[in-house]
Amino acid sequence: MLRLSKLAKVCWGTVALLAFSGVSFAGDGAVTANASNGKNIFENGKPDAGVTACVTCHGEKAMGNDDMGTPRLANLGYVYIVKQLTNFAEDKRTPQGLGAVMNGFAKSLSEQEKRDISAYVNTLPKSGETSDLKGLKAAGTAVGEPYKGEILVRYGVEGKVSACQSCHGFNGRGADPVYPKIGQQKYVYIVNQLTNWRDASRTNDPMGQMRAIAKNLTDDDIHNAAAYLSQAPESTMGDSMELNNQMVMQHVKITK
Ligand code: HEC
Ligand code: HEC
Repeated sequence: MLRLSKLAKVCWGTVALLAFSGVSFAGDGAVTANASNGKNIFENGKPDAGVTACVTCHGEKAMGNDDMGTPRLANLGYVYIVKQLTNFAEDKRTPQGLGAVMNGFAKSLSEQEKRDISAYVNTLPKSGETSDLKGLKAAGTAVGEPYKGEILVRYGVEGKVSACQSCHGFNGRGADPVYPKIGQQKYVYIVNQLTNWRDASRTNDPMGQMRAIAKNLTDDDIHNAAAYLSQAPESTMGDSMELNNQMVMQHVKITK
């Protein structure tokens, strides 16, 4: 049974790779992604095309920054990152505030460059630089209760909200390629996304899955879930989802 469901996920992975990334395939059936070109754009941007270096806002280790509201990109999942960059380029995701730069940047990146950057940041390890909840609270940001967030992540709210981990995996460790890693994502970014799904200002979720969840969340639920998820510890259980990520990546040829 376990094997079958794994196989189903892998097939879904291949389908999603095609459906969500709009990728073209090289002759042998693999897409190509040049991680060193991705690193170059991540660190230096594309000055001639007006693309600022990603590192400026997403941080040296691509772990995001609460003061800027930027997300961690490190090891977030290759297919998911390609999808977001494509959605930005097509104006299917239009953030407000600082994040509004993402649409212009994504339009100035070719399909190949989107894959190159996604491959690069996906290979970066999660560095353990989690949000400083005490510091955020001291600076006046509303911060929730992690223990209440844990209940929401594991069990949801009876008859109202599905458990986050039913889609995002144990402790939000992600279920590639469709469900992004939300464990050890940045606090402010998680709060912003849940708020945006709730008021439907972010609408690029497949089948409206996140809007359906978020419309039943209170402000406290959002703060509590984000507080827990931003620190959610690495699982000690077998991580089959990371295996999925690796299996999806077998279809992507990474050149150095
Ligand atoms: C001026 C600051 C800034 C720069 C430079 C920048 N970003 Fe962003 N980026 C943001 C912000 C802010 C968000 C969050 C948007 C939101 O709240 O929806 C974001 C979101 C993203 C996301 C969505 C991640 C997710 O979890 O869904 C991706 C992918 C991304 N950026 C990639 C890049 C890449 C690649 C570059 C370089 C080419 C880059 N960014 C440069 C500010 C920046
Ligand atoms: C029915 C499945 C499902 C459930 C349950 C679910 N999510 Fe999601 N979530 C998704 C999908 C699919 C996406 C990716 C949307 C996209 O492709 O842009 C997502 C994206 C997100 C994001 C944005 C991640 C990013 O990097 O931008 C956050 C934050 C999030 N979910 C939090 C939660 C929380 C908190 C819960 C529980 C209260 C939850 N989700 C429950 C399906 C689900």
